[in-house]
Amino acid sequence: MSGMSDGFTAEPLCAEKIGEAMKNSIRISLFDELDSTNSEARRQAERGMSVPALIIADSQSAGRGRLGRSFYSPPGTGLYMSFLAEAKESFCETVALTTASAVAVAQTIEKLCRVTPEIKWVNDVYVGGKKACGILCESFGTSDGKRFALVGIGINLYTETFPSELDGIAVSVFPERGLRNAFASNIADRLVEYWNEPSRGELMEYYRAHSLVIGKRISFTENGVTASAVAREIDALGCLIVTLDDGSTKRLSGGEISVRLENTKEN
Ligand code: BTN
Repeated sequence: MSGMSDGFTAEPLCAEKIGEAMKNSIRISLFDELDSTNSEARRQAERGMSVPALIIADSQSAGRGRLGRSFYSPPGTGLYMSFLAEAKESFCETVALTTASAVAVAQTIEKLCRVTPEIKWVNDVYVGGKKACGILCESFGTSDGKRFALVGIGINLYTETFPSELDGIAVSVFPERGLRNAFASNIADRLVEYWNEPSRGELMEYYRAHSLVIGKRISFTENGVTASAVAREIDALGCLIVTLDDGSTKRLSGGEISVRLENTKEN
């Protein structure tokens, strides 16, 4: 991490720059401000706009997180983007898509910030024990009967001040100046590649090697009920296998489940 000083303005986002730096082609729409890039992606799908598409905003007024939470998305300091593609049976299971997205983000952070990120099952990317990125995967249908997969990614790049409820929880990754567009193109290229050819073996190897939870005591909340367990492994689809306190084994598959490392704050 390069560290930041006063008066810093992040590189302005530029659709041409992002597209030119990508190996794969994708339609890019860029906005100064949106309610939520995921909501805009849904609107674009409903209007029949072409996919795959990348929808990016400099800020979001109603950024959405998992489990009905909001995602803090101030202007000029982060990267808020959604990858939209037509769903395909083999790869649209939400957990599988989420793990691929977490790997794409973690690999980009590793490459551009030269730090080793960790992935907190199922969809958060951590740096130095704090959350740097959240991912919200959704699948939905449009009125013409098409099905879509949607990955929303929010990364704190240069945000220095967070709302008090994120104190001790959120962190920024501080890439070198001038890398905001490179962050977008790097992640998007990886997403397109994993989408077109999900080589799950390598992807899951990376995911497991960077897991923040394997071997740790966690608590998880499912349908409003919280239980304590030890995280054992992550299976080929990205499900988390845990041992409960009564010795039984359970397979957690994302969705409405939230996992907390014991003795830590969570968001
Ligand atoms: C989480 O941490 O619970 C997931 C946060 C996902 C935030 C991103 S920002 C871009 C996209 N648009 C949204 O409204 N949410 C996702």
